[in-house]
Amino acid sequence: MEAACPTTARVGKRREVVRRLGRRGPLGTLSGVTSPDSARTASEYDAMAVEYDRHNASSGANSYYERPATIALLGDVYGKRVLEVGCGTGPVTEWLVDHGAAVVACDVSAAMLEIARSRVGDSAELHHHDLAEPLTFLEDASLDLVVASLVFHYLRDWVAPLRDLHRVLRPTGSVVMSVHHPAWDWRNHCPEDYFAFLQVSEVRVEPHTVTFWRRPLTAATDAVSEAGFLIDRLVEARPNPELEMRDPSAFQELTTGPFFMHLRLRPAQPDGSVAGIGGKSS
Ligand SMILES: C[S@@+](CC[C@H](N)C(=O)[O-])C[C@H]1O[C@@H](n2cnc3c(N)ncnc32)[C@H](O)[C@@H]1O
Repeated sequence: MEAACPTTARVGKRREVVRRLGRRGPLGTLSGVTSPDSARTASEYDAMAVEYDRHNASSGANSYYERPATIALLGDVYGKRVLEVGCGTGPVTEWLVDHGAAVVACDVSAAMLEIARSRVGDSAELHHHDLAEPLTFLEDASLDLVVASLVFHYLRDWVAPLRDLHRVLRPTGSVVMSVHHPAWDWRNHCPEDYFAFLQVSEVRVEPHTVTFWRRPLTAATDAVSEAGFLIDRLVEARPNPELEMRDPSAFQELTTGPFFMHLRLRPAQPDGSVAGIGGKSS
């Protein structure tokens, strides 16, 4: 399976390139980026932006699996104000614009964002922004929807950024996010300890490496609740049937094991209620 995200390698090959990392010092300060993790992510994605974009457009895991599952969870976006965090080179940004959303998007990698800019021009508002930092350019309760496609696994802490997404969402809004499935990373990075919460590195688009956080399922769901969200949907996607013809081995792999996990979150209100859903959250 040639997947730009999360990796270009097949499982066997992936095992060869995977290595554990200890925490490292800062890589240098990029504009508006304060955390060492975010600085590293920015430089990793800056280094492979062009290859990543090319690969992402054709990869089975992105085009026939992750993106269709994300889009299926978004619903009708026409006329909605949408924030896309970690927009990368903008394939989802472009889809949102084409389907009538008013889009604000951000990414920590200037090179990825530049490609997104060339894709959508002035039809979306783009910001070079680190999701680990507050979204100071957005008012409270100003958005209908947040899309976070394959970005949260780069963040160690999910609670602070999710709380800020809660702040900017209207009560009727939702967050649609996709991340590495905990079982996938368990198999590839820490088969001896499912509960490990650790930073790991993989080859993404040859020869480029990306570094991200592997966590068990409950670390993800606990952060979601702590930030004031309820899980409306948890999806373990299957690839689109067309992939079987294009890439039978990727189809087989994605049909028989979980690679990514999608969540749709709804913001709980101060009294515990969730707009449009009867009763109160506990
Ligand atoms: C795997 S790519 C996905 C890109 C896009 N969402 C897509 O689905 O094509 C992850 C993106 O998240 C961005 N990213 C990672 N950490 C980030 C952070 N702390 N703040 C903003 N963007 C971040 C990376 O720069 C990269 O563009």
